[in-house]
Amino acid sequence: MSDGIKKIGVLTSGGDAPGMNAAVRAVAKNAISKGIEVIGIRKGYAGLINDDMMPLTIRDLSGKIQKGGTFLYTARSEEFKTSEGLKTAFENYSKHQLDGLVIIGGDGSFKGARDFVKEGARVIGIPGTIDLDVACSEYTIGFDTAVNTAMEAIDKLKDTSTSHEKCSIVEVMGRNAGYIALWCAIANGAEDFIIPEKASDFSEEKLMESIKRSKAMGKTHHIVINAEGIGHSYGMAKRIEAATGISTRATILGHVQRGGSPSAKDRVYASIMGAMAVDLLCDGEYNKIIGYKQGVFRAFDIDAALAMQKSINEYHYDIATMLGR
Ligand code: F6P
Repeated sequence: MSDGIKKIGVLTSGGDAPGMNAAVRAVAKNAISKGIEVIGIRKGYAGLINDDMMPLTIRDLSGKIQKGGTFLYTARSEEFKTSEGLKTAFENYSKHQLDGLVIIGGDGSFKGARDFVKEGARVIGIPGTIDLDVACSEYTIGFDTAVNTAMEAIDKLKDTSTSHEKCSIVEVMGRNAGYIALWCAIANGAEDFIIPEKASDFSEEKLMESIKRSKAMGKTHHIVINAEGIGHSYGMAKRIEAATGISTRATILGHVQRGGSPSAKDRVYASIMGAMAVDLLCDGEYNKIIGYKQGVFRAFDIDAALAMQKSINEYHYDIATMLGR
């Protein structure tokens, strides 16, 4: 038993991300090792509202660390945004006598967590999203695996693009953030990349000039990484082909980026964050979001974490641009 913490809940919320299972496993294992009961809440906040919960035992955690997705299932709950939804969720939290709740998700989930704190809950947030768009953290669970998945797919597209001397527009996920696109731009040696944070730097005319320049230089492929936040890849490909005469195809990688067995980094960092969430609760530190900053895992007050801003590193952006030339 640790500091009055006898029973905790854990849930995954928002888009799934490879490594979420590793985080749940670490939460549960650390809690169980301290004599704390653990309840797995299914389908994120929806499970809290619908009382869809199951006790987690050591047996339930076996064979989970290498699995993609989330064995607790996940959802985006509109009901949790309403006062009735929050009230019902808190009734179930109290009914199960939870002393704390670990929420693995992104910023949207943490906004829900902040509202839940106002009902009286104690929470710890762990950043889990392939988008890397949680401001208090330089790492989010799933980003590393997603980038590797996208990178491997783009390598393959590059092969066929080269054979046919085509231009390829590849759309990667990230919602309004361009981190996956920026990383793939560097990792795949893309000729061009377009991200929402730098939308004002982009014009289709400039892109067409760049594609024509490549051709004139004798390049047999031209890879353009387009972030989801820019979108419209199919239309872009059509317009490029019509204006340049260079055969152009668009590929939207989509949800494949959210699946797959987590990378070693995602397994290890998710495990550290999961274990740390329980240690924080036991130390009487709650209503915090765990972040990884400058090589250290730290806990930030939830309001402070949600007020933080984050954007693309300008220097990394310039390097990616230079390398594409
Ligand atoms: O947040 C993860 C993410 O995959 C984003 O990159 C994307 O914009 C969104 O989720 C897609 O959500 P859904 O699976 O609900 O279509």
